[in-house]
Amino acid sequence: MMVITKIKDMQTAMQQYRREGKTIGFVPTMGYLHEGHVALIKKAREENDIVALSVFVNPLQFGPNEDFERYPRDLERDQRIAKEHGVDVFFSPDVKEMYPHPLSVQVVVKERVDVLCGKSRPGHFDGVATVLTKLFHIVMPDRAYFGLKDAQQVAVVDGLIRDFHFPIQLVAVPTVREEDGLAKSSRNVYLSPEERKEAPALYKALLQAKAAVENGERNAEAVCALVKQYIQTHTHGEIDYAEIYSYPDLKPLETLAGKVIIAVAVRFANARLIDNIILDIA
Ligand code: PAJ
Repeated sequence: MMVITKIKDMQTAMQQYRREGKTIGFVPTMGYLHEGHVALIKKAREENDIVALSVFVNPLQFGPNEDFERYPRDLERDQRIAKEHGVDVFFSPDVKEMYPHPLSVQVVVKERVDVLCGKSRPGHFDGVATVLTKLFHIVMPDRAYFGLKDAQQVAVVDGLIRDFHFPIQLVAVPTVREEDGLAKSSRNVYLSPEERKEAPALYKALLQAKAAVENGERNAEAVCALVKQYIQTHTHGEIDYAEIYSYPDLKPLETLAGKVIIAVAVRFANARLIDNIILDIA
């Protein structure tokens, strides 16, 4: 596995692969790799000649009171995991390399960000879209892999790729969970033992909602109420949102029909957890 920290070196390496006619799968991450990331790597490994993984904790997508400083980092461990799963190129630039001076141009996301995490984390998706624009230009992949755990991010990246004509196929990968249903996340390490026990309630609440829909419930407000009530009675966390929208355009719905996302975010003492399920309603 090649380990690269400089943009120029990364561009040279990727251009060489392209010249050789190799297909490139790209997995962008902020590191502290877990099985969710590994699922993306595996999918990329299956579908491409070359797999490139980036590890970069992007300051631009963190709000002023968010966890940029204390976001978990362990590059050595990340390299070991990446190598074990057949990554060819491990790209881990530092902040100075990616942002050597204040940006003179930034990407602003206009659709699909007035709800869910876009609403509770203003500017977050502008930061995500900006860093991905840079990374896509550096790596020039054929395919890019994203997890549906961050379904709004998938929707935003879908818009970015289309609007800016990146010749990249977006591949969305299902959420990987712990045995008790908790979605794997680098931020799960922030949970106290007590909170860790409560955290699977997010997914359980979503499954209750799914069951209600399967039993014929079509009223969006009623389904949201179910989700909120389950989380309130089974956790000490504070609900940031529990909402339903059409997917991927994220428009409000009164009556459930077509492809919909039920998404939740819950604040615990030191961690804000998110989860969602996407249902296709006939
Ligand atoms: P990060 O949170 O490290 O996630 C990297 C990728 O792994 C994302 O596409 C995310 O959806 C996926 N992922 C995380 N947990 C997952 C799980 N349990 N199951 C499946 N996929 C999972 O998302 C980011 O980094 C950043 O915003 C980034 C896209 C790298 C831009 O900075």
